[in-house]
Amino acid sequence: MSGAATLADLGSAIQGCLKCALGPGRIHFVFGEGDPHAGLLFIGEGPGRDEDLQGRPFVGKAGELLDKMISALGLSRQEVYIANVVKCRPPDNRTPLSDEAAACLGYLRRQIELIQPKVIVTLGATPLRELLGSTEGITKVRGQWKRLEVGGRSIPVMPTFHPAYVLRQYTQEVRRAVWADLQEAKAELDRA
Ligand code: URA
Repeated sequence: MSGAATLADLGSAIQGCLKCALGPGRIHFVFGEGDPHAGLLFIGEGPGRDEDLQGRPFVGKAGELLDKMISALGLSRQEVYIANVVKCRPPDNRTPLSDEAAACLGYLRRQIELIQPKVIVTLGATPLRELLGSTEGITKVRGQWKRLEVGGRSIPVMPTFHPAYVLRQYTQEVRRAVWADLQEAKAELDRA
């Protein structure tokens, strides 16, 4: 797996994965999509129902909002990359268990190595916890730069709220916070 030289090779190598209990329940393995050399990488939690049905990340309601945010930054979905901590849908959209996330983490890290993004935006608490080992609450740390070491590179990471949370908590305060975080990420991308 770690020997895969391209994202496409990696996707083919791991799409039949049965390393954790989520594999047998999936309809589709949701690898991720976008520009394989994107400067900006979004990382969510895991596929929901729509994503499992279509085999693509963020295509449901939360995805519609993510698309709007991406275009508000002057970018398109094709110009960024969108991935998740786990590639298979957790039952009833529950948060992935730590052993499920651990089983999938090597895949995500290899994706990051191959994409070599300049900036990562993590969406919600799960990628922050599983990728950065941060146990701080998302409300506390959103908007504060973190760094991730992958493949000998140190990548700036901007944690923000998950779009599904924004939809549930559709207040001006939450929307402003996410917008500020995304603008920070875009400014960093433009500087890099
Ligand atoms: N929520 C996520 O975290 N990821 C998706 O792909 C869809 C919804």
